[in-house]
Amino acid sequence: MQCLHYDKTTLYMENVALSELANEFGTPLYAYSYNQILANYKRFDEAFGDYPHTVCYALKANSNPAILRMLAKCGAGADVVSGGELFFALESGIKPEKIVFAGVGKRDIDIEAAIKIGVRGINVESEMEYEVISDIASRLNRVAPVSLRINPDIDIHGHPYIATGRHGDKFGITRDIALSLIEKIKQDNYCDLVGIHAHIGSQIKEMKPYTELANYMASIARKALDTGHRLEYIDMGGGYGLDYERALSVGINARGDDDLAIDPAKIIPIFIEAIKDTGVQLIIEPGRALVANTGVLITEVLYLKKTGNTNIVIVDSGMTELIRPSLYSAYHEIVPLEIRDAETMVADVVGPICESGDFFARERKIQHVGRGDCLAVLTVGAYGYSLASNYNARPKSIELLVRGKRVKVIRERQSLEDLWDE
Ligand SMILES: Cc1ncc(COP(=O)(O)O)c(C=O)c1O
Repeated sequence: MQCLHYDKTTLYMENVALSELANEFGTPLYAYSYNQILANYKRFDEAFGDYPHTVCYALKANSNPAILRMLAKCGAGADVVSGGELFFALESGIKPEKIVFAGVGKRDIDIEAAIKIGVRGINVESEMEYEVISDIASRLNRVAPVSLRINPDIDIHGHPYIATGRHGDKFGITRDIALSLIEKIKQDNYCDLVGIHAHIGSQIKEMKPYTELANYMASIARKALDTGHRLEYIDMGGGYGLDYERALSVGINARGDDDLAIDPAKIIPIFIEAIKDTGVQLIIEPGRALVANTGVLITEVLYLKKTGNTNIVIVDSGMTELIRPSLYSAYHEIVPLEIRDAETMVADVVGPICESGDFFARERKIQHVGRGDCLAVLTVGAYGYSLASNYNARPKSIELLVRGKRVKVIRERQSLEDLWDE
């Protein structure tokens, strides 16, 4: 996280001491770095050179309206997976022709809205869904722009919950079904095949799955073009991973170190090389890689205790604020807001939720903490707040945007009244 550094003993995001934010706004709180979001977007966008493209930000990673507006202003498109995300994308100023609509279980009303709004492409995730899209378009007397979501059977060697491109995963259609739909759609007056799409998973840290994907997608695109379709784009999806383990050292060293595991400047030219003979546009859908290393969750230590030989540090946030450790055993660095001349301790850092699976770290070496100390959980800008819940009647936390010395509240903390919705 290049946006973080310690000035002597105090942790800063850009030019703001995070301890000041904790004092002023209370905890739990999410803070994001404005300049890091812009730098991440620019890095992906510039990797395309002058090849025609759209970077469609995957809203599911973080759909805070202020962040969406920032990305919309930069020229980002959107990858949406529900009528709700479609609404968010439009509200943030993203034009329909830059929105691609994915999702394995789209409802009829969402498909209808997408056709009427005129999105760039609606992903077909099954033969049955294709029939539904075609029927809805015919009822509306409109032509639906469709894109085939291919399941290329490529293993990303990651957590099974975030692998989406292997046969047996619920996403996409096989090559054989894609080829038969390419023929079928040619005869369909209500569907126009505009794209070929794949998203093989998330937190991908190797180039190989992507290089395999690029060639696979190009061959299917050529089939579609040979069949006479007016194909407009190939969408390689998202998934570009991060080095969660090195989040802090990247910020501290400030040596141009990188916490993106996949360098856009290396992968995008490989995509372009594989598809350029088709002449179609290139779309990618990064979520995590645009926002993960821009956010921290600040939490306060409530209690310390020992059960058996295990030291337990109980903090005031948990799986309701950040579920990734509980859901996928995800690793997040945890660091103090103030470094003291203190010993270290090995402890489980856990939340207050009534679930044993509610933890941020197990057997983690941290600076010795006491009641009232604050900790920062790093690299939480993606799949942090967007997966938050109100379980145990816990109001969702406040979200702040830090820009240089300035701090803006970009979402208020929920009140108990917000939760008591009779
Ligand atoms: C269709 C699609 N595109 C893009 C993404 C974004 O993935 P990531 O945040 O890993 O880049 C996802 C994540 O699940 C997805 O399902």
